[in-house]
Amino acid sequence: MQKVDDAQAQIEFDRRIADEQKIEPSDWMPDDYRKNLIRQMSQHAHSEVIGMQPEGNWITRAPTLRRKAVLLSKVQDEGGHGLYLYSATESLGITRSDLIQALQTGMAKYASIFNYPTLTWADIGAIGWLVDGAAIVNQISLQRTSYGPYARAMVRICKEESFHQRQGYEIMYQLAHGSVEQKAMAQDAMNRNWWPSLMMFGPHDSDSAHSGRSMQWKIKRQSNDYLRQKFIDQTVPQIEVLGLDMPDPELKWNEEKGHYDSGEINWEEFYQVINGSGPCNYQRLKHHKKAHKEGEWVREAVRAYQEKQQAKQDKTAA
Ligand code: 3HC
Repeated sequence: MQKVDDAQAQIEFDRRIADEQKIEPSDWMPDDYRKNLIRQMSQHAHSEVIGMQPEGNWITRAPTLRRKAVLLSKVQDEGGHGLYLYSATESLGITRSDLIQALQTGMAKYASIFNYPTLTWADIGAIGWLVDGAAIVNQISLQRTSYGPYARAMVRICKEESFHQRQGYEIMYQLAHGSVEQKAMAQDAMNRNWWPSLMMFGPHDSDSAHSGRSMQWKIKRQSNDYLRQKFIDQTVPQIEVLGLDMPDPELKWNEEKGHYDSGEINWEEFYQVINGSGPCNYQRLKHHKKAHKEGEWVREAVRAYQEKQQAKQDKTAA
């Protein structure tokens, strides 16, 4: 009987996916769909939260009060994105503490880009412009993902990322049009962040383990290579406006394809970073564990409050 019910539920699920209807938390869904969503959404949430560290590193050293206020607010936004995404992931039946444990034990990944250091103020410009820029290209596509809570979280996140991208570009524009030293700083930060930004889109489609199923289920709407190319095509004219040298000598407009050609990513470096051996992996997780431990009293207080409220409700009901 259960098998018949599941088979019918599967047919209904497939029909809804084909009809572009959203799947909601209380709907039946195949186990693998649920697991794949938990994997991608939690990695996305972890990326937002870990991503606060490289930029947070510059809050105390921002060059002006205005820059400090903007950066503080941006970093806070990223924390907020992590919270929406954790909540959306929890709607799939997993607890926040399980998700955090997976991050801290290295079972779950987070975006490779955040394992690189922010060496100068120009990195803050380059991250806002390139990293948030790459994130938006991916996340605009994810606004149409098939899981309702994920798609809805993306709408708000994209609006905020778009502001982040512009503030980053503004920093880069000012530096690129400043003194010789400032322009050199902007060039260096762009050169260092360019390749890791391209890596954010993941391996080539032919090497992507999850893309096939994820595209079939409409969790992912466009492929890793498609989105990476879109990012390159929109970013090269922005580099020209900055007046900086191209970070990749092979970046050339290809009239026939209607796209820019580019050099090959160093995939060995990519796999090293996603498997835990990037320049800052150890530092990022160490800091996360420390901050999480220091926040234990807050979680305890929330639990105590919830228990008290529950006891009150039980007493009233009795
Ligand atoms: N960094 C870390 N891990 C990566 C990665 C990257 N740039 N690209 C791929 N991977 C991992 C995958 O997670 C997967 O690992 P797993 O099997 O252990 O889960 C493995 O490499 C194989 O890659 P696949 O292509 O098969 O993986 P996906 O189909 O999941 O595609 C993805 C990768 C494009 C990153 C996809 O997961 C995705 O679109 N995720 C949602 C977006 C996201 O996570 N964005 C984070 C960006 S940072 C951000 O938004 C913060 C903002 O403030 C800038």
